[in-house]
Amino acid sequence: MELAELKEKFCALYGGTEEDIRIFMSPGRVNLIGEHTDYNGGYVFPAALSMRTAIAYRKTNSGKIRMAATDLDVRVEADINRLADYKDLKWGDYQLGVAYVMQKQGYQICSCDMLFDDTTPHGGGLSSSAAIEVATALAFATISNEEKGITAPVDMIEMAKISQQAEHEYIGVQCGIMDQFASAMGKKNHAMLLNCASLDYELVPLQMDGYKLVIANTNKKRGLADSKYNERRGECEAAVADLQKVLPEITCLADVSVAEFEQHRSAIQNETARRRAKHVVYEIDRVLQSVKALKAGDMLRFGELMNASHDSLRDDYEVTGLELDTLVEEARKVDGVIGSRMTGAGFGGCTVSLVKEDAVENFIAAVGPNYQAKTGLTAAFYVSEIGDGGHEVKA
Ligand code: GLA
Repeated sequence: MELAELKEKFCALYGGTEEDIRIFMSPGRVNLIGEHTDYNGGYVFPAALSMRTAIAYRKTNSGKIRMAATDLDVRVEADINRLADYKDLKWGDYQLGVAYVMQKQGYQICSCDMLFDDTTPHGGGLSSSAAIEVATALAFATISNEEKGITAPVDMIEMAKISQQAEHEYIGVQCGIMDQFASAMGKKNHAMLLNCASLDYELVPLQMDGYKLVIANTNKKRGLADSKYNERRGECEAAVADLQKVLPEITCLADVSVAEFEQHRSAIQNETARRRAKHVVYEIDRVLQSVKALKAGDMLRFGELMNASHDSLRDDYEVTGLELDTLVEEARKVDGVIGSRMTGAGFGGCTVSLVKEDAVENFIAAVGPNYQAKTGLTAAFYVSEIGDGGHEVKA
């Protein structure tokens, strides 16, 4: 929805005029490579999308946070003095989780009316939740700073950390920092090489002469994704505990090189945990190789690494499933596709494919029907536009 329309809708809902409405926004992300490495202290290589959450915001004196969404028939009213009480909401829990964490940290959470407009598909593996969280955190932090007379700009890395903490403490997903960091810190036409242990990052121009990144959405409902995600995290921790018996200096899988892994892999007792660890150690290495390939303009190599990433997520990390695997298989059959992989947590959600510009139309025309024939589901396609991270839209 255009922002002018969002403001109109806001007034129709909450009354008043448009003058005192503020607009905050933050994007979804696509991860190009480096999956399930973030919570293992490794590298990731995501980019912020132009798909985003926009919030029309007005400060009030009601003692309440009132929220609604443009695409859902839902209204939430939360008491700002009882923010711990809304964990079970079907919609609104991300926002109130962020407010809850911020209030504990000493931010002044003011009463307000908010209308949310998301263009990132919900539950699609493009971090619609991080977009909501970071946009909300930015709104609350901006107002809190103004109330307290703090003139420094909002620290967006802090907003990413707060959003991740809300996932851990309020939502119950032990996610890494990638999604929130990419949403907060992304830059138009750049991808971001992020070291998830130190939070050092480098913005890498996405110069992909003649190629496009095409996202395909399985449109599969994600079901038990959150519990499986936490389970994978536990398996990685078990692998670290075993490896520490032979490599006492390591604290996470990112501390283990490919050579060390090959030398000591038998120290990991459980066969499943061993395969999980293998994925992580090799995937971190693939991220660094991909960035090197991209900088050298070697797109074919980049595509090969994307393919290897998906195969490892399918066989060793086991987070793909029929829908993602079918989309990837069908994509790889199309002339002009040089790499295709799942992106995000997996178990449904989206794939990202590196496609020659002149083959994009063909790609969509071929993959869509073949996917439907094999799964009964209708895929959606988006040619990625890489946008900016979270910010207030000033008139
Ligand atoms: C989800 C999590 C991220 C990351 C990815 C997998 O998107 O929120 O922290 O772990 O899965 O790479």
